[in-house]
Amino acid sequence: MARHLITSALPYINGIKHLGNMVGSMLPADVYSRYLRRRGHEVLYICATDEHGTPAELAAKEAGVPVDAFCAEQHDAQKAVYDGFELSFDYFGRSSSAQNREITQHFARRLQENGFIEERAIRQVFSIADDRFLPDRYIVGTCPHCGYDKARGDQCENCTRVLDPTDLIEPRSAISGSGELEVRETKHLFLLQSKLAGEVEEWIDANGAEWPQLASSIARKWLTEGLHDRSITRDLEWGVPVPADTWPELAAEGKVFYVWFDAPVEYIGATKEWADQDPAHRDWKSWWYEADDTVRYTEFMAKDNVPFHTVMFPATQLGTREPWKKVDYVKAFNWLNYYGGKFSTSQKRGVFTDAALELLPADYWRYFLIANAPESDDTSFSWEHFTTTVNKDLADTLGNFVNRVLSFSRKRFGDDVPAGGAPGEAETRLGAQIAELLAEYEGHMEALQFRKAATALRALWSAGNSYLEEKAPWLEIKTNEEGAALTLRTAMNLIHLYAVVSEPFIPASARAMREAFTTAGDTAPWVTAEEAKALDAVPAGTPFTVPPVLFAKITDEDLAAYKERFGGEESAA
Ligand code: 2FM
Ligand code: ZN
Repeated sequence: MARHLITSALPYINGIKHLGNMVGSMLPADVYSRYLRRRGHEVLYICATDEHGTPAELAAKEAGVPVDAFCAEQHDAQKAVYDGFELSFDYFGRSSSAQNREITQHFARRLQENGFIEERAIRQVFSIADDRFLPDRYIVGTCPHCGYDKARGDQCENCTRVLDPTDLIEPRSAISGSGELEVRETKHLFLLQSKLAGEVEEWIDANGAEWPQLASSIARKWLTEGLHDRSITRDLEWGVPVPADTWPELAAEGKVFYVWFDAPVEYIGATKEWADQDPAHRDWKSWWYEADDTVRYTEFMAKDNVPFHTVMFPATQLGTREPWKKVDYVKAFNWLNYYGGKFSTSQKRGVFTDAALELLPADYWRYFLIANAPESDDTSFSWEHFTTTVNKDLADTLGNFVNRVLSFSRKRFGDDVPAGGAPGEAETRLGAQIAELLAEYEGHMEALQFRKAATALRALWSAGNSYLEEKAPWLEIKTNEEGAALTLRTAMNLIHLYAVVSEPFIPASARAMREAFTTAGDTAPWVTAEEAKALDAVPAGTPFTVPPVLFAKITDEDLAAYKERFGGEESAA
């Protein structure tokens, strides 16, 4: 059994995330973690809020709250939503933790000792009205190439050209709007990535061969374009301070590390937070430091995060000259769009995770999102598609099967799983089919092919329906009561199997299905091929109850109301 270290990209602290964010990192990481735990592996699934950087500072300012209080509040708000989605983090930390500060500073010191950090004086724009240096993207002005008047200092959104703040015509501060800007000289730390490029490339050659194409092509592209030295400090109030023991002058000036320097370190930092909470987790370092071959590290993220995780963070780790665990497998996702356009946190376009849970239970979203995960391409959310999927797959194929079988059996045979009849040809065929589909499902899960796994899971549910249609126990009972009992008992065993194997996708519904049966010692985490063939884990005589309807259908009226509230096609820009 392997030990699986799993991380999903850390959500930024400013604001509740939308569904696109959920499907590209946390949700698939959770489904995978749940699956691996059930298969008997040791799993450590770590995530955290990414709390530093200018956007956090500005959002706090806008909310009129001190930034630390703002982050504490937002962290709890996000955590509540993730609990609602039943994300099974082993720990959900905060990049502003003391643990992360300590480890980030340690990384920086080591990089300095090994000659991979250099202090350089740069000329940077200072806003007199705001009394601060401005990051490039907080300087706006007119693009010298296309004349767009809201171009940012790092890039023009209109013509996509990369810019330098000094290129802008009539530059002004994006914070205050003030044009009173001057260029001042200031010192910053630079990570000498150019010195590490060769090593990173060797590491990718040796380890990236099995990464999915989306991840490896982005990594290669960055390497080909050349790894440039990068400034890793900022003039901000909020962040991991540059340690005074190593850089007294910069520390005195109040410099902090750039958010992308400390954010990936928080994967380690959060693990330490987890360990510090419980003496049983004392050996946290065995996951990260001198980890042996039994630890397999899988990262989940959307494609824009790939360069940081495949190139920059590994460069940082390599540069410490310490044996930090590096990623083994990078699972990257494309974008989930909203009616063909972008989900956008800043423009509040699309469906946010808190609003989603107000409408419907987490399982509806979990199943839909994973079944339509943007794995090989961008995919698009629409309320129509969501409605069809929920009604067909969840309400009809799974929910209706469960309810029909249990209600009918109770009506005709009472509160226990009925006895009688011996499995015949139909049951043998069904068992073989279920075992085969289960193996397919397992194969796709092992390969982290989530859409394919969802298809196999749905096929398992459908197989039950076909069997039921074929045997038609509601007719069978008229002439052959024992036969009907056999059919229903077999179908109930399917329900139990569904409860076990659907858990990674729809944990709450899986619990409801499993709890329908009162079977002593029913704790098996998974189903073997033999058990799938036999379909007799729930024996005759087992008491059962009929759970409330598992999935309610979304009506035409609901659909119209959702579209009205969230905006369907009409509002797509
Ligand atoms: O893109 C994002 O949402 C970032 N907050 C991801 C950070 S991942 C990690 F490195 F911390
Ligand atoms: Zn332009």
